[in-house]
Amino acid sequence: MTRYQRFGEVPAKRHTQLWRDGRLLTEEVIGLDGFDGPASTLYHLRQPMQVRSVGAFRPLERTEWQPEAHVHHCFESRDLPAGGDALTSRRLLAFNDDVEVWLSRPDRTMTGWYRNGEADEVVFVHEGSGTIETVLGDLPYRDGDYVLMPRGITHRFVPDGPAVQRHLVLVSRGMVEVPSRYRNRYGQLLEHAPFAERDLHGPVALRTIDESGDFPLTLRINGGLQDYVLPHHPCDVVGWDGYLFPWTLNLADLEPLTKQIHPPPPVHQTFEGDGFMVCTFVPRPIDWHPEAVPIPYSHANLNSEELIYYVAGNFGSRKGVDVASLTLHPSGLTHGPQPGLSEASLGTTHTDEVAVMVDAFRPLQLTSLARDLDRPDYAWSWTEAVVADAPAVSDPTPSPPGAPV
Ligand SMILES: [Fe+2]
Repeated sequence: MTRYQRFGEVPAKRHTQLWRDGRLLTEEVIGLDGFDGPASTLYHLRQPMQVRSVGAFRPLERTEWQPEAHVHHCFESRDLPAGGDALTSRRLLAFNDDVEVWLSRPDRTMTGWYRNGEADEVVFVHEGSGTIETVLGDLPYRDGDYVLMPRGITHRFVPDGPAVQRHLVLVSRGMVEVPSRYRNRYGQLLEHAPFAERDLHGPVALRTIDESGDFPLTLRINGGLQDYVLPHHPCDVVGWDGYLFPWTLNLADLEPLTKQIHPPPPVHQTFEGDGFMVCTFVPRPIDWHPEAVPIPYSHANLNSEELIYYVAGNFGSRKGVDVASLTLHPSGLTHGPQPGLSEASLGTTHTDEVAVMVDAFRPLQLTSLARDLDRPDYAWSWTEAVVADAPAVSDPTPSPPGAPV
């Protein structure tokens, strides 16, 4: 994030001595892009390079699913089984070389620590609250938060209580950033941006833990998970400063941009990644032009895969799509409001829809989880005459005229 943060004790000059109880502390600089990108400087009680033991490397397994036909999809995840912590409960839904989309229903604290060494992560907290303990300090999270966790930050999720949480996790090969058009040349958020610096929340407290023992760490690297055991608590930082740190942004703080006729999704953009963008739909007044059709026109986003995760409310251009479902409108096909919804929308002045959209600029590969959650009738939901007795997508009978296949 393009703003400076400072916590705890740091020396007046970088790369100079800092002592604590007779110990010269270990300075660590973590940075991106060969230290041309954002970086932070940490001061540890002990050397962060120390490892007690090195465990197994576990390649991430991806069971790909290739649907028999290229059609629209709806994946119902409301009843996705819960179990595991914020890392072990993750299940991969879709991916390409730029971004991975995981669903997660954690129900316990992470017993070990986690660090992604090859990708940034965006955790959208649909349901749940707690604290993410990080080497840079405690970061509280709650319902509706986006958690922006840069690569390289050791952390663990500690939920409030035993209630099952629901997370949507995006893993991004490139950096995830605030769109440049929201910022001035100094990095400051502009007045027209849908959020301001006061809406971005970094760590609130730095706890320096001086403990020896066995501390498990899982590092994601090279497409797999590498286990280690550290000989001391990873949160032994007495101070840090810099621009690289985790932060949160809550949906409730977004200030949606509106127009008198229907604006396209880029006005709802929240983050940009390398090869994808994230948009957020939140409650707002809508299209007040007297002749407006206040829901989306039919459209073909020709070189994007539109994946929408439904959070709450009634999504005006979709019917029969449940909370925690995801629709995938892949490239090459047109989609839009289902029959009757445009007419029904006339005169509407407000929407209560809440949804998160990932537009991937390269095709998404689906997984066996997508196959298990897929609702084949969705592909037929625009075709009124055949909705009632839609054949399965894999049905070899000829497609009815006009069917979206
Ligand atoms: Fe769309």
